[in-house]
Amino acid sequence: MAAKIKENEAGKQIPRHIAIILDGNGRWAKKRALPRKAGHLAGSETFRSIATYCKEIGVEYLTVYAFSTENWKRPEDEVKGIMKLLDKYLHEAIRDMQKKQIRLKVFGDVSRLSPSLRELIARTDEISQGIEGFQANVCINYGGRAEIVRAAQRYAQDYAQGKAEELTEESFSDYMYSAGIPDPDLLIRPGGEYRLSNFLLWQCAYSEFYYTDVLWPDFTPEDLDKAIEEYNHRDRRFGGVKK
Ligand code: FPP
Repeated sequence: MAAKIKENEAGKQIPRHIAIILDGNGRWAKKRALPRKAGHLAGSETFRSIATYCKEIGVEYLTVYAFSTENWKRPEDEVKGIMKLLDKYLHEAIRDMQKKQIRLKVFGDVSRLSPSLRELIARTDEISQGIEGFQANVCINYGGRAEIVRAAQRYAQDYAQGKAEELTEESFSDYMYSAGIPDPDLLIRPGGEYRLSNFLLWQCAYSEFYYTDVLWPDFTPEDLDKAIEEYNHRDRRFGGVKK
């Protein structure tokens, strides 16, 4: 689904949906001779400040890649540290999301997460239903290919039960975690790598990519402004020709 673009008072187009691959936490920590989990802690604080800023400037959806299906291969201690941070973050979200009017969704296969994390996610889902406006999507145990396979399986099930009609690009989108959400207009990857890393493969078909060497924990609202500025100079044709 292509997003309709809004403009702010300065005439800048504000992307409706921004996606970010959180990268560089480990290097940020190493540069400071800190353990990797200190980098993830700083990264989770950055996520909080960038989400607040996105809401402030009129972005409607922010989707971040926090933990991929491949990240389980990391040392046990690091994985435990990330799960602990998610637990802390979700507790704080449950406390604050109503006041801040922020909806929070988790995209990914949550079945591998602990029962307590799953309970917190169910609770944030429930609270989100009573909130309108800005939505943050956190991808946990997420993989783009796995999401497409899951969508195909869910469609096949519905079809077999006579609940689904002919498959179209639009109807298939409804089987993704991102059902009902416009595709990302802008995909940002901090941390100096130039890869998609199995993130939102279906949804990013026409997204504008922005890469920066800034490590995620150092990423500031000014860095986001720079990405939006560059986005404003892109010519989005969605496969058509310039008008
Ligand atoms: C990538 O940096 C980061 C991760 C795999 C984990 C991100 C997780 C968090 C920030 C914690 C919880 C998140 C939220 C949204 C509450 P890296 O470790 O690959 O960095 P490196 O490439 O420098 O080693």
